[in-house]
Amino acid sequence: MIVLTINGKRRNIDLPADTPLLWVLRDTLELTGTKYGCGISICGACTVLVDGEPARACVTPVSAVLDKSIVTIEAIDQDATGRKVQEAWLNLGVPQCGYCQAGQVMAATALLKRTSSPTDADIDTAMSGNICRCGTYPRIRAAIKQAAGLTEDKP
Ligand code: FES
Ligand code: FES
Repeated sequence: MIVLTINGKRRNIDLPADTPLLWVLRDTLELTGTKYGCGISICGACTVLVDGEPARACVTPVSAVLDKSIVTIEAIDQDATGRKVQEAWLNLGVPQCGYCQAGQVMAATALLKRTSSPTDADIDTAMSGNICRCGTYPRIRAAIKQAAGLTEDKP
């Protein structure tokens, strides 16, 4: 039996230790906000926070996160920074199809936790691994700036 801490709760998981975290989230715990995109650490759709840092759940075995705090999109509004990011996303209507957006929000939250006033270069670097097939990058950047308080609250 494996014990993980996900969104502040201890969860008992009866799966092999090399099971990817993404399978546990989506298939076992039905936390389907975290998306499966490429499965090989390229697209960022599966991004979650592990001890506050962005991590690719598709290539992270549960054995690597046993003593860590895992946060998914379902609980990001319980974090003050995550809540600001979600509000900015809503304010600016960032998503198009929405598929990549949970991962984008997680990566943006991690960025703002590290860097409260990011430059364009900081944003580009932090978000470069999160691919959006709809091309919402300009709105993502604007929303990150709004969440950081670098622009007016309303567009
Ligand atoms: S699904 Fe994990 S990086 Fe694409
Ligand atoms: S909003 Fe469609 S993939 Fe990003």
